[in-house]
Amino acid sequence: MTDLFTVAPLNPVLRSSLEDVFKIHHVQDMDDPIAWLDSNGAGIEYVLTDGHFGLNPEYLTRLPDLKLISSNGVGYDAIDTGAAVARDVLVTHTPNVLNAEVATTALMLLIACYRDLLPNAEHARSGKWATEGDTPLSRSVDNRTVGILGLGRIGMTIAQKLAPFNPRILYNGRSPKDVEFTFYENLTAMARDCEALICIAPGGAATHHLVNAEVLEALGPEGVLVNVGRGSVVDEVALVAALQEGKLGAAGLDVFENEPNIPEALRNLPNVVLTPHIGSATVETRAAMAKLAADNLLQHLKDGTVLTLVPECRELL
Ligand code: NAP
Ligand code: 8YV
Repeated sequence: MTDLFTVAPLNPVLRSSLEDVFKIHHVQDMDDPIAWLDSNGAGIEYVLTDGHFGLNPEYLTRLPDLKLISSNGVGYDAIDTGAAVARDVLVTHTPNVLNAEVATTALMLLIACYRDLLPNAEHARSGKWATEGDTPLSRSVDNRTVGILGLGRIGMTIAQKLAPFNPRILYNGRSPKDVEFTFYENLTAMARDCEALICIAPGGAATHHLVNAEVLEALGPEGVLVNVGRGSVVDEVALVAALQEGKLGAAGLDVFENEPNIPEALRNLPNVVLTPHIGSATVETRAAMAKLAADNLLQHLKDGTVLTLVPECRELL
């Protein structure tokens, strides 16, 4: 059997696809993973992780024979691809199979914000409807101007899923695409022109705090921010201040700067909908992601190729 060092928790699909072929060494079963790697790291060629756990540089340096890091998620900002490329280590991820689910999560947060879902649900559940009467009117999701930060695979799927709401779609990213939507080179200018801003850009240094106080103020007191990309893309301190001061209308957030910790000030705000990074978290989508993460490992073991390499590693194959 081939050794596999696994960093993230293994779901049943991953375990059953891999355990006949790989001898699994799971970091969470180890008292001292560093000491274990010092003794056993040489010879290990395969790592399985996910977008949250990534690969700690202290593990990477103790895996001198590593060939492939398969990550069970599409975002790979927690993996140092530069260090991997320098070592001729391939990195794979799970694009496309989660587009629809993450797009649904974005719509769910957007709709919850506009239609005051949480306060309305609480009003009904608590019995206050009978004692206090109707809640204030909420606002329609239809016919909005929606800006998308990151019109990639998931961003395009969000735009497609939004279509029945008859939006006008604007987008910002590094480069314009061959699409019917309006490209903005400048994020603040787009925020000024849109009513809702949906962030689905990757994490990492290049996107750190792209959504800052200026962008939030440009979005404005009626504006809605949805973030399903990475927490690091939004300046969380500026976001809390904008929401507290009424400079931003509402926020629907699935991702946070320091997961799983959400600042108390953010949790206490009435005009936020918060979910614990569940963008892809359905039985169906997690199974599809797990299958792709496993298939990358199995394919490489078979013939040295992989299915879904991250772009930074293209030159290695
Ligand atoms: P993708 O196809 O690579 O799209 C990423 C988009 O972000 C592209 O349109 C790209 O624009 C833009 N972008 C990249 N770097 C940028 C920069 N420095 N400034 C502005 N825009 C930039 O990726 P995807 O598959 O749609 O996934 C996007 C991200 O969603 C992942 O990386 C992950 O962080 C997040 N995600 C979250 C969840 C969740 O559970 N909440 C689940 C899955 C994914 P250009 O094309 O112009 O470069
Ligand atoms: C995962 C994600 O939950 O794919 C991504 O980028 O953020 C989520 O689908 C995360 O990677 C942990 O596996």
